[in-house]
Amino acid sequence: MILKDLKIVNFRNYRSLSLSFHPRVNIIYGENGQGKSNLLESIYVLGYTKSHRSVMEMALIKDEEAFAKITGTLQTNTVPKKMEIILNKEHKKLKIDEHLLKKISDYISNLDVIIFYPEDLDIVKGSPSTRRKFINTEISGLQNVYYNVLTDYNKLLKMRNEYLKQPYFDENYFSILTKYFIEKALLLYKMRNRFIERINEYVEPIYYHIMHMHDFRVFYKTEDVDFTDTYDLDILQKYYETIKQKERLQKKTLFGPHRDDLLFFLGNKDMNSYASQGQQRSAVLAFKLAEIELYKRYKGETPILLLDDVFSELDYMKRENLIDYISDHIQAIITTTDLTSIKEEVLKKAKLIQIENGKIIKQEEVI
Ligand SMILES: Nc1ncnc2c1ncn2[C@@H]1O[C@H](COP(=O)(O)OP(=O)(O)O)[C@@H](O)[C@H]1O
Ligand SMILES: [Mg+2]
Repeated sequence: MILKDLKIVNFRNYRSLSLSFHPRVNIIYGENGQGKSNLLESIYVLGYTKSHRSVMEMALIKDEEAFAKITGTLQTNTVPKKMEIILNKEHKKLKIDEHLLKKISDYISNLDVIIFYPEDLDIVKGSPSTRRKFINTEISGLQNVYYNVLTDYNKLLKMRNEYLKQPYFDENYFSILTKYFIEKALLLYKMRNRFIERINEYVEPIYYHIMHMHDFRVFYKTEDVDFTDTYDLDILQKYYETIKQKERLQKKTLFGPHRDDLLFFLGNKDMNSYASQGQQRSAVLAFKLAEIELYKRYKGETPILLLDDVFSELDYMKRENLIDYISDHIQAIITTTDLTSIKEEVLKKAKLIQIENGKIIKQEEVI
């Protein structure tokens, strides 16, 4: 899909902005603090109704204003669509082609966006919980149903943990609760594992294309026991039986998808402790580029790629490799502080948009 144009009103540091995009590479440039990231964020919010950064919703509305509005026209494989979101302090209004939508789920499956932004470095470097959050967000974007299963799982996990803290203990009740819990856990395991398997079908050559390094792989790690496809209700019920005393003693659920992790490996080395910053960033980047292939495969549409400050840790060659990879098959909107770091050939084919203090001060269309 292609985002043809965008209008934003009272969003972050933008009073009012109207802009059309090139179907391939668009480069937003300007100094720090001018609104480049905010512009990408507005596209993300238009698609998913919330920000990719963990922020208070209020912060999205321009200071001293009562509402923010973002509108965009999409060209999909089939029809054009006009999407609109109005945020105010109490609620959100969502519209497609002027029709008001009541359910967020009807809205968010329309504009698919993949965003790469500086904090993504934490995915490789940070704690397992950062990576669990990452995998949850990414699969939810691809399959709405994942989000529902995750919500159910979290509810059951909470109930189970609360029960383990009670002074009384009914074996029957606990085993029924555990059964429901395992059923949801199994669904999460299967979806997560299938997702990582699919990512691995694409991610190695992509990483190689950018970094010229082989053998990049992602692993899904289950705590204690190695995950196998043979996991089933029966096996897991028996396993939970073996850890029951320990769980009662520690008063919490000791095994399940809420304790798992994602490992990024280059050759036989865990990138969390071995890789350089640039290698770690590129690992996440390659992962997200692999997701584009999954969107194409499962949704039949190419998502829009938003790259915020992606060049900062890559040297000239690797920037070229990256641009080269994306430039002819996807719409990309890229921010940078430094246009001179991009080669002439790419600049000629891209739409260039200069931002200063929440305004467009220069636009150069592709001839
Ligand atoms: N709700 C808001 N109202 C007004 N200005 C905001 C709001 N939120 C952020 N800003 C301003 O946006 C600017 C940062 O924009 P950003 O897109 O991060 O810049 P960059 O071009 O470096 O990516 C800062 O000056 C910040 O004060
Ligand atoms: Mg920025």
